[in-house]
Amino acid sequence: MSANTNLPEEIIAPLANLDEWERDVLERYPDPNAIATNKSTEEFRNYETPGRDTVKEFYRLNHTYQTYDFVLEKKADYLRFNKREMPIWDAFNFLNELVDDSDPDTDLDQMQHLLQTSEAIRNDGHPDWFVLVGLIHDMGKVLCLFGEPQWAVVGDTFPVGCAFSDKIVYPEFFQFNPDIHNEKYNTKYGVYTPNCGLKNVHMSWGHDEYVYHMMKDYLPEEGLYMLRYHSFYSQHREKAYDHLMDEHDHAMFKWVDKFNPYDLYSKNPNQKSWAELKPYYEALVAKYLPATLKF
Ligand SMILES: [Fe+2]
Ligand SMILES: [Fe+2]
Repeated sequence: MSANTNLPEEIIAPLANLDEWERDVLERYPDPNAIATNKSTEEFRNYETPGRDTVKEFYRLNHTYQTYDFVLEKKADYLRFNKREMPIWDAFNFLNELVDDSDPDTDLDQMQHLLQTSEAIRNDGHPDWFVLVGLIHDMGKVLCLFGEPQWAVVGDTFPVGCAFSDKIVYPEFFQFNPDIHNEKYNTKYGVYTPNCGLKNVHMSWGHDEYVYHMMKDYLPEEGLYMLRYHSFYSQHREKAYDHLMDEHDHAMFKWVDKFNPYDLYSKNPNQKSWAELKPYYEALVAKYLPATLKF
């Protein structure tokens, strides 16, 4: 099904399948009733290592394969948007079957995460396009639908074509990325110039870049920045790429910073049901987006 890789399965998906992930979740968050049967609570609670190893392997692959050429190749392919056309709700249905293996704390399905994010934004009285950004920010994960490896869909994003910052999670894995031996790409600025602006910078390929391009014509620029850079943690948290950003980026990143806590920390146990929320979100989607989207 993958139009793009001839990679073996263990490289496409460090998690063999979603069932394996679910088994891992059960080990991490065991059913208390099952504990009573044969294993001690301590045995069940010994969950840190397997979860971490999976995520670490995920980042090893991500840092090894996200090269400058890889990114250009993915952009040339996906930004034609010629794969499929469907209503946004079909994309959400698909997302509901996915889980995010870059987030060791995730135990919600994707639709719940999107609604938690958008509802928290709405409850704080932000403009409706900001609420819509909350709803759609992870929609690019439909890349999995087209057979993309997990490490080319999710995870922290970072610029390619210049030196990788040691502020990026697991920086030691960049030693396996061929770009660090290419003198075009391994200097501070690489193929870029000082403060050239992020619009000129290629980010590692994933759901952020993809959804940004999909939404480019429909949302205000502030919202587009949120979509495009919401996983760029080495910049949000560490300011590792100020030397590539221009003044406009800095102004727009105030909005990215505003969005980020909603993505990470919106976990309301009293979340309204989808049935209750549906009329509002159907109207919101209809206000900004066409009836079907091109993927
Ligand atoms: Fe995301
Ligand atoms: Fe998210």
